Amino acid sequence: MQKPLIFITRKIPDEIIKPYENHFQFKMWQSEDEPIPKDVLIEEVKRADGLLCLITEQVDEELLQQARHLKIIANMAVGFDNIDIKAANEKGIIVTNTPDVLTETTADLTFALLMATARRITEASNYVKQDKWKHWAPFLLAGSDIHHKTIGIVGMGRIGEAVARRAKGFGMEIKYHNRSRNEQAEAELGATYLSFDALLREADYIVSLIPLTDESKEIFNEQAFQKMKRSAIFINASRGGVVDEQALIRALKNEEITAAGLDVFTEEPIASTHPLAQMENVVCLPHIGSASMETRYKMLSLCLRNIQAVFSGEKPITPIT
Ligand code: GLV
Repeated sequence: MQKPLIFITRKIPDEIIKPYENHFQFKMWQSEDEPIPKDVLIEEVKRADGLLCLITEQVDEELLQQARHLKIIANMAVGFDNIDIKAANEKGIIVTNTPDVLTETTADLTFALLMATARRITEASNYVKQDKWKHWAPFLLAGSDIHHKTIGIVGMGRIGEAVARRAKGFGMEIKYHNRSRNEQAEAELGATYLSFDALLREADYIVSLIPLTDESKEIFNEQAFQKMKRSAIFINASRGGVVDEQALIRALKNEEITAAGLDVFTEEPIASTHPLAQMENVVCLPHIGSASMETRYKMLSLCLRNIQAVFSGEKPITPIT
């Protein structure tokens, strides 16, 4: 019997697929950096039994219509707004993601982004590297304190909790907004639930960790930014689509908020000419929340374990239901 064909949409290290080679034939898009063009992916999907894809691939109805043999789509991300789950389920295709393995790593990055933005780390580093440092001065590159301030976490899931644990270590007051109450975070971290509007008004740091859905699309809009304190710092480590980017740009330009730290954008990648990339009080990162070597290996390995489970007739480990 022929081994199932698994198509991987990016070149990944051979050592990751090696343990699975007895069970599967693998084919990879041969670039580590550049995403596979949609038309090429469609051709590959026609033949594939399994697909390991990344957030750069739009797995939509057009693509799924061509999937004749596909049993599983293993998305190498916790977020899955790049996949039309309903269309996949209608075709009986299982979709999996990579929760848990990236929680702590993404929380590290989110907190690092908060700290870098508050204490103007990238700006300060550029100041030195660009030979602007001529004197010490009392208010030179003075930022905002983090300790004992109020963090407002929007989206208190696994990553939200992990960020809250870090905030607790900094003596921060923890407020959160979520679809449902997170009693564990309330009991263990002293987190206080607030309505979205109250959180926007009270927090010094508003941290978006909310997944992108029809309901959360652009929830950070003009009205939202107007409710924030002028001293507020906005951090987004979930998806660019939860922000009305033009409204954010206006809020920063009009000094309605103080700064922003962004790991994600509406359209990725952004160019250096993008208005957000041009602002000194905005720290821009290229969507690297879970990007530690250890975690990226774990995410790929979880994708492959999900694929193996499905072809062994077992339940996938981390299905999206
Ligand atoms: C990355 O953005 C992820 O969803 O894992």
